[in-house]
Amino acid sequence: MNIIVTNSPEQAFHRAADMIAAEIRASSRPVLGLATGRTMENIYRLLVQQYDAGALDFSGMTSFNLDEYVGLGPTDTNSYRHYMQEHLFAHVNMPLSGIHVPDGTAPDLDAECASYEVAIRASNGIDLQLLGIGETGHIGFNEPPSAFDSQTRVVELDDITRRQNSSMFGNDPERVPSRALTMGVGTILEARHLLLVAVGGGKAAIINEALNGPISENVSATAIRLHDNVTVILDEAAASIYNQAIK
Ligand code: GLP
Repeated sequence: MNIIVTNSPEQAFHRAADMIAAEIRASSRPVLGLATGRTMENIYRLLVQQYDAGALDFSGMTSFNLDEYVGLGPTDTNSYRHYMQEHLFAHVNMPLSGIHVPDGTAPDLDAECASYEVAIRASNGIDLQLLGIGETGHIGFNEPPSAFDSQTRVVELDDITRRQNSSMFGNDPERVPSRALTMGVGTILEARHLLLVAVGGGKAAIINEALNGPISENVSATAIRLHDNVTVILDEAAASIYNQAIK
């Protein structure tokens, strides 16, 4: 595992954006796994800057987002499909046909999850999967416990997660949907390269648990240690407890 610790959050975002940009340039048909959250907004901002500067071409790209809230459609400003449009898709030359986000309004959610897995395989799998981490240790929305061989499925969101994500919902955790569709831990582990990014002291404890704690289905992020091609990018604050533990 390659763990990079930067002096500031902005440097972490730059390192991550540069790694994603390199992946996009490396192939005429790159397949990227995308994530949402406040951390990722910064990375997408830098990718859009590179695109505006003429340094990136998204025309051959296929993307698969990790997750989506149940019940929220693309026009709902709190949906992850909307988030992606606002932070990335609307600003770059990515073909609509290449964009995949699980449909939280599908009439048959289980069928939607199954067809998402089929679509990932049909695209020949994900080259680079971007990951954030939640306070519960979730990657995607894989709340504890999540089997390491789990596939895309419907999950119940943890109360901690609904609180963590409530800033987008008027700071009211009750307004955060209680269910989501998420790629499984097993789906994530099938990607050829995993890139986990976390910044800020609020992530320090869970980062330490993810990187140093027992590998357990009770902390989904520990699963990344079972993958042989992983990059973790942290700022000093997110790395602070982990750094002390390994000294
Ligand atoms: C949501 C997403 C996760 C992401 C997490 C981190 O819960 N489903 O995939 O890792 O947010 O968010 P933030 O970057 O805002 O801390």
